[in-house]
Amino acid sequence: MASTKQKALPETYTVEVFRFAPGEKKPRYDRFEVPVQHPGMTVLEALLYIKENLDPTLAVRYSCRMAVCGSCGMYVNGKGVLACHTRLAEFPSGKIRVSPMPNYPVVKDLMTDMSEFFTHHREVKPYIINPEMRAEIERPTREFLQTPEEVEEYLQFSYCIKCGLCVSACPTVASDPDFLGPQALMTVTRYNRDTRDGGWTYRLEVVDRPHGVWNCHFAGACTEVCPKGVDPALAIQFLKREAVVHGLGLDRLPFWPKRKQAPLAPPPKPARRKGIPAPPPRTVPES
Ligand code: SF4
Ligand code: FES
Repeated sequence: MASTKQKALPETYTVEVFRFAPGEKKPRYDRFEVPVQHPGMTVLEALLYIKENLDPTLAVRYSCRMAVCGSCGMYVNGKGVLACHTRLAEFPSGKIRVSPMPNYPVVKDLMTDMSEFFTHHREVKPYIINPEMRAEIERPTREFLQTPEEVEEYLQFSYCIKCGLCVSACPTVASDPDFLGPQALMTVTRYNRDTRDGGWTYRLEVVDRPHGVWNCHFAGACTEVCPKGVDPALAIQFLKREAVVHGLGLDRLPFWPKRKQAPLAPPPKPARRKGIPAPPPRTVPES
């Protein structure tokens, strides 16, 4: 009968950490011995143990510690991960090597410079643009209505936490630093498939250019590394199809299905619900 007994974890992990500071000629790896403090101890906790007990100069970026803020992307034993969402137990050998994300300049140790990443993200206008409904978007009076199927069209792409791991894994970014990259391109699909949005022609112009969507070779490394289950490679293929259709003018032909626009919910009924008291009078005049 197969034993159900789990293999005991090492009591101490050997953690090799990439070190580099501005002004230094060469990076190096420093080795630390980290005692395992509980069975679920994460790579981030090991790094914080080092920072608090062994070497306070270690630079590591983190915030939420729960795979939400996207700050702690790094490579552990050559694999792109969120350090706060990766347990030491996943490496039963008791030895890990932690490095900063490739394809980004290193600021210090494990901290990378994300400026270019966010420049590309901003370039595609990652928010709802709707010139026809501008007033409603700026001062909402009602809700835009979407069916569950319409939400499903973009939902998985909205789970992105901007950790940048997809960009670090992308072979095209490695050879062309001006490439918009999987995260920005995926974001275009996220908004272009949203029926509340009307900014898709602007975004298609941004991506249908040198270093844009056509530079993606569909390696799929972005999808494989994404810790949130987003599929940037799929999003980019949707985008290529949209760019071809728009570029050839097919979407302007009379028989081509028109883009849907989310309707506004009916105006709210002024009557108050029974038993709910009226709010107190305003103390600040409405601007
Ligand atoms: S798509 Fe995934 S890997 Fe890329 S930034 Fe978003 S969450 Fe991170
Ligand atoms: S610390 Fe926020 S994602 Fe890891």
